[in-house]
Amino acid sequence: MIVDAVEPIRKMRGGAQAWLVRAGDGCYYVLKLLQNAQHSRILINEWLCSHFLLHLQLCAAQPVLLNCTREWMESAADLGLHVQRGTEQVPLQPGLHFGSRVPVDPNRESIYDFLPDAAMDGLENRSHYHGMLAFDQWVSNADTRQSVYFRGRPREFLRDAVYAPTAVSFLAMMIDHGYAFQGPDWRLDDLPRQGLYPRPSAYVAIRSWDDLEPWLSRIQGFSESAIDEALKQIPSTWYAAGEERELERLLEQLLRRRQRVPDLLHACRLARPELFPNWRSTVAVWTSA
Ligand SMILES: Nc1ncnc2c1ncn2[C@@H]1O[C@H](COP(=O)(O)OP(=O)(O)OP(=O)(O)O)[C@@H](O)[C@H]1O
Ligand SMILES: [Mg+2]
Repeated sequence: MIVDAVEPIRKMRGGAQAWLVRAGDGCYYVLKLLQNAQHSRILINEWLCSHFLLHLQLCAAQPVLLNCTREWMESAADLGLHVQRGTEQVPLQPGLHFGSRVPVDPNRESIYDFLPDAAMDGLENRSHYHGMLAFDQWVSNADTRQSVYFRGRPREFLRDAVYAPTAVSFLAMMIDHGYAFQGPDWRLDDLPRQGLYPRPSAYVAIRSWDDLEPWLSRIQGFSESAIDEALKQIPSTWYAAGEERELERLLEQLLRRRQRVPDLLHACRLARPELFPNWRSTVAVWTSA
């Protein structure tokens, strides 16, 4: 989906030097520019993972292509939008950039970056961290697992359960997948200490392999067509020469890696036992295909 950037609001924290913007559909998005300070591949990683997560029915920010015209870029630059790489200020290019939809109107509702451990118990979808654990191992995420927290309607954000239309809950929404595939390296390494939420509060309810479901099975059966669907929507301007073929090869490896996810999780649990205090069974019930 393509939407027009309308109003630049403010710079966000973080290495990509993202900006909060209002867009033509009335929603707010966190904009990451193709010329961001990390790498252009960050946008492709964000795009693919956001689509994959929504396909898995995990609560993740909706990705869009944000159309930034030359005039918009100029007026945004006047308000301070810029990309700084060391001492160099990178020239802004108009075109399609990455947008991550903000779940609620940030002028009216609170959105939190961090949550005290005790408040994690009150999340409607804390179990989505179990799915994210499997996902981040699958895509070899080099970053810690990040999310934002807000009060919203579960009916709108949690797709695999039935909720009353007016019910409101405290929700976690997954963001920032720029360092999936080891970020700009586009590699799938087995690094069991990476890609984790840093506190046991996200995983305390994992007692057995059953608590990884339905996401583990969904990842193992992840369809090639869902990958192709996300891939074909990537704007050609996001690729450097030769990168399309390189990405195809990476995604072929990703498909093969689906069956290894239980083994990756087993390694992860052994590497960071303090994060999984209640995951008791010592026998790995899964084996690689
Ligand atoms: N969809 C979203 N809804 C609400 N806030 C968001 C969303 N996406 C990003 N943010 C906010 O913008 C900040 C920066 O986003 P993000 O973490 O994706 O960027 P980054 O520059 O890659 O960060 P890092 O330095 O962690 O790699 C987040 O900390 C969060 O506060
Ligand atoms: Mg981040």
